[in-house]
Amino acid sequence: MAESNAEGILKNNLQYTLFSWSKQAGLNPINAERAEGCYVYTHEGKKYLDFCSQLFNVNLGHSHPKVLAAMKKQLEKLCYVYPGMATEPRGLLGKKLAEITPKNLTKTFFTLGGAEAVENAIKVARMYSGRHKIITRYRSYHGATMGAISAGGDPRRHPVDQNAMPGIVHVEDPYCYRCPWTKTISSCDYECVKHIERVILFENPENIAAILMEGESGTSGCIKYPPEYWQRIKKIAEKHRILLISDEVMSGFGRCGNWFAIQNSGVEPDMICMAKGITSAYIPLGALIVSNEIAEFFNEHTMNIGLTQSAYALGCATALACLQVYEEEKLIENTWNMGKYLEDQIEVLKRRHICIGDFRNTGLLGCLELVKNRETKEPLVPWNCKPSEMGVMAKIIKKIRDLGMYTFVKWNWIFIAPPLNVTKDDIDNGLAIISKALILADDVCKGE
Ligand SMILES: Cc1ncc(COP(=O)(O)O)c(C=O)c1O
Repeated sequence: MAESNAEGILKNNLQYTLFSWSKQAGLNPINAERAEGCYVYTHEGKKYLDFCSQLFNVNLGHSHPKVLAAMKKQLEKLCYVYPGMATEPRGLLGKKLAEITPKNLTKTFFTLGGAEAVENAIKVARMYSGRHKIITRYRSYHGATMGAISAGGDPRRHPVDQNAMPGIVHVEDPYCYRCPWTKTISSCDYECVKHIERVILFENPENIAAILMEGESGTSGCIKYPPEYWQRIKKIAEKHRILLISDEVMSGFGRCGNWFAIQNSGVEPDMICMAKGITSAYIPLGALIVSNEIAEFFNEHTMNIGLTQSAYALGCATALACLQVYEEEKLIENTWNMGKYLEDQIEVLKRRHICIGDFRNTGLLGCLELVKNRETKEPLVPWNCKPSEMGVMAKIIKKIRDLGMYTFVKWNWIFIAPPLNVTKDDIDNGLAIISKALILADDVCKGE
């Protein structure tokens, strides 16, 4: 079999490479050849609408000419020098990040991805504060390296939690649709935040280095923070001299309608972790920006963190080009406008499909939650169900793919997070596909 035809390419992938988060037998990946804008094209000649920016990271869409040109220019000049050397793109990117993040944040350490940014945020918090515990939430994901997977509360940590990194304390979430305190919007008194303060007291505030949370909730169902959530968390953190770390790996770079989601609340964290949209995935890059106080502490104390490929010159130049495109094409503005349009169109879908229990969205980070019954809110398939228990959701995933769309689906959640330069037409096309697939779920609701 020729290795360069569609079948040969797929065979090499399946025979010689390992795929994440899956049993390896029976996989049937989309066989991507090229991609442009919101679309991925396969070797077999099929076109897929990318309704999730791959993994919520290709914020500028695929093959953006300005980013490709900047990469080629840097590629020919300098790809990499060891992190002890200075380079032009490294300095310029550090300066730019200090400009677009809250003003107390001033200095950046560069990584190669999100998990490494989180790992290093935890190390920095511990070194700076001399304390060891980190408060994180159950419905959260912070990456898959050992420290980051321990920090996340998502079930993806379960297979390795026997050897979890010590010092993580998980707390409950502001999941308003299924409030753990059975409150409603009108009776809510931020029990989710009061609970966190109680846990802090139980755990001894003087042992707690940081509270680490996603800037806005991502793959744990985009649960969407209530309006004063970040402000109230910040108050508690300040009271107990605990650092606040916003993990903006997914929610950053315009995804939530601002450079960083925490900026929607006006709160200044002590550190921000970033990756994904920083280069729109044109090359891997992550970053950790720290406050001036933390940066100054390390003027006199050794900063004991490092990575061979930190401050990768080609990555920094790519990020600079991406940031320019975000600005030139007014993508943050477009995210708000398209997000609003998406929300309006979902209201129309809700009238058509009884299986839609909830839709939660910030900017263009959205998630449909499917239920068997709107009154009881029984999930269409159970939270954390095994692939063999996915039932009708497996059929929905197949239908969406057959109709020419890729998006991220987990349990009873369908995520909607297209590239930030998405158009109304693309949104209409994507929702038309989802609507056709939701008929399968409506039938379950009706008992058919
Ligand atoms: C909020 C958040 N933090 C960290 C990560 C880990 O990033 P990476 O996969 O680049 O290590 C992710 C990945 O999805 C994420 O969503």
